[in-house]
Amino acid sequence: MRRAFVAAAATLALVLAGTPAQAVAAAPGAPGIGDPYYQDYGNGGYDVSHYDVRLRYYPDTDRLTGTTTILAKATQGLDRFNLDFLLTVSSIRVNGWAATYERQGDHELVVTPARPILGGQDLTIVVTYQGTPSQVDVNGYTAWTRTPDGALAVNEPEIAWWWFPSNDHPLDKATFDISTLVPNGTEVLSNGIMPRPPVQELAGWTRWSWRSSKPMATYLAFLVIGQYELRTDTAPNGQQVINAYSDRLGAFAEPARASIERTAEVVEWESGVFGPYPFEAQGGVVVPPATLGFALENQTRSVYAAEFFRRGSNPYVVVHENAHQWFGDSVSVNHWKDIWLNEGFASYAEWLWSEYTGEGTAQELFDFYYNVLYPADDPFWDVIIGDPGAANLFDVAVYDRGAMAVHQIRLAIGDDAFFKLLKEWTATKQYGNGTNGQFQELAERISGEDLDGLFNAWLYSAGKPLVVDGGQDGR
Ligand code: ARG
Ligand code: ZN
Repeated sequence: MRRAFVAAAATLALVLAGTPAQAVAAAPGAPGIGDPYYQDYGNGGYDVSHYDVRLRYYPDTDRLTGTTTILAKATQGLDRFNLDFLLTVSSIRVNGWAATYERQGDHELVVTPARPILGGQDLTIVVTYQGTPSQVDVNGYTAWTRTPDGALAVNEPEIAWWWFPSNDHPLDKATFDISTLVPNGTEVLSNGIMPRPPVQELAGWTRWSWRSSKPMATYLAFLVIGQYELRTDTAPNGQQVINAYSDRLGAFAEPARASIERTAEVVEWESGVFGPYPFEAQGGVVVPPATLGFALENQTRSVYAAEFFRRGSNPYVVVHENAHQWFGDSVSVNHWKDIWLNEGFASYAEWLWSEYTGEGTAQELFDFYYNVLYPADDPFWDVIIGDPGAANLFDVAVYDRGAMAVHQIRLAIGDDAFFKLLKEWTATKQYGNGTNGQFQELAERISGEDLDGLFNAWLYSAGKPLVVDGGQDGR
């Protein structure tokens, strides 16, 4: 903020003195946004408002070609800035002028515009590119996944690099248009609504268009391409529900449907607990077996591994991923160390669903985890979930100790304050970012309790904490 103001003032002074605007001091944008776990994720010096991603995909060969247009505003004078991206770039233009660019490190693309950028200036950045994403690895790792009939761009926190250039960090959210040309008879799923039905644009090729009109973190943008059956319906809140099922689900197909088709019901129940649903559409996508090891809360339309339904229906994973629409997608981590705010609350939503459906109260689940599942000598208790480290971002402790910590907060402040806290957090931070510390502050303000001891024991210390009333047995 302050730097932008200084730049603007300097511009004015120079204009008054008759000096060309180009003479204003411009500096390189930072190569990272300042995340302590991932120093080079995201970038500094500009703020993106919209991504327009236009792609063509060849499922047989995994060839991807595309043009992404980024609408942004410079937050400082810039003589160069970075994008996060891995594929081969063929051109970059900034406000119409051809820019030069070079790769730095693995996913950094350094862009030098033809003319320096002024602080506060609007930017239109057009990047054309191509590649075979499954062949591009970073330290031996490729997040883009080929399936028997297509591909998946689904991962957290790294996925955008493999399919569109971006400011890749949840601190810079933007709206999205994502349109993909694929061979006729292939389906393309992504976030949000379809502003128009799929259209055949070339002999043998159909364009699928998807639009996200609420701010979205880059890791939540997804593409699922392949052979899918779409099921469309209207939710009780009037929104469109689009679910999609791989043609290859076999015995998983019916338990998957018996779970995913409950999405609208789950979203309605969660809206009662967390506050109004923050997005414009709902749904879920179930991908072929043996292609994905997890489910992910992609904004408006979560993606699920088929294996979640191997033992039958699984409403809990639907509850978990949709709870993330509030905790993670609308209110996002400020830095990745705040991951407890995502996984602890999505896991606790499962406990609340269990309580709601009569399958066991949250207290019964807490007692089971505390007294049976995780004895004091279990290394489970070594993970400091309030700052777990990049290697433990998705450790089971972030989920299960996370849910237990949420339950301890509920016990400490009582149900009235607790459910008020959930709604006030999602309302005041809607479409933004939050930290563990800000959550503690709000909990303390609403309840009037000092929660330092509880947060220190459950979030910021290794070892099995005492329960809130000081007992050892969970009661
Ligand atoms: N946020 C996802 C979930 O809770 C987990 C993603 C795990 N990501 C990964 N690459 N393993 O369900
Ligand atoms: Zn989760």
